[in-house]
Amino acid sequence: MRTSAVLATLVATFTVPAASAPAGDAGVFARQQTGKGKFCEKTVPAPPDDVVRARHDKFVDAFLVKRDIVETFTYIAPEYINNNVTSPDSAQRALDFLSRLWGNQNITVHRTLYRDNYSWLNYAGMAGSNIIDRYRWEGGCIVQHWDRGETWPA
Ligand SMILES: *[C@@H]1O[C@H](CO)[C@@H](O)[C@H](O)[C@H]1NC(C)=O
Ligand SMILES: *[C@@H]1O[C@H](CO)[C@@H](O)[C@H](O)[C@H]1NC(C)=O
Ligand SMILES: *[C@@H]1O[C@H](CO)[C@@H](O)[C@H](O)[C@H]1NC(C)=O
Repeated sequence: MRTSAVLATLVATFTVPAASAPAGDAGVFARQQTGKGKFCEKTVPAPPDDVVRARHDKFVDAFLVKRDIVETFTYIAPEYINNNVTSPDSAQRALDFLSRLWGNQNITVHRTLYRDNYSWLNYAGMAGSNIIDRYRWEGGCIVQHWDRGETWPA
């Protein structure tokens, strides 16, 4: 039920052009070029699950709808592990990598899901038409990401 609410929000955002920047928007891109990222600070104990779920929703909106990489990384911890040879570990290095190309992507969201400290994102983007990303949350922040042969959870 939560997932369809998120998708409904995403669809609504896509159908109102004024609400999101056009593909390759120069303002978004320029903003992403500047400065050091502000990253997520983990807490002990971790926030309740509904708080992490709400952060997942905002992360999806920043990353796939607004394509604002600086905001995206406010949900990601500095020690972020990317598990990807072309896209580096550490939040700052991943931010630098994505800032150069993400603002110019055409993203189509297929579906998103949050469950028990994991997020799944399925979308069409730069690396193909059916990308599945999986993220692990810890202490209220994303700490790890996988994109190799991921399958949608049952
Ligand atoms: C890493 O990321 C790139 C760009 O998103 C993607 O094309 C590639 O399939 C990913 N996986 C590996 C193992 O590099
Ligand atoms: C994004 O879509 C627009 C309009 O369809 C197109 O002109 C542009 O080349 C696309 N950009 C990329 C990076 O695919
Ligand atoms: C989620 O992770 C936190 C630690 O960050 C842990 O305390 C909590 O039990 C986990 N929740 C689930 C449902 O696995």
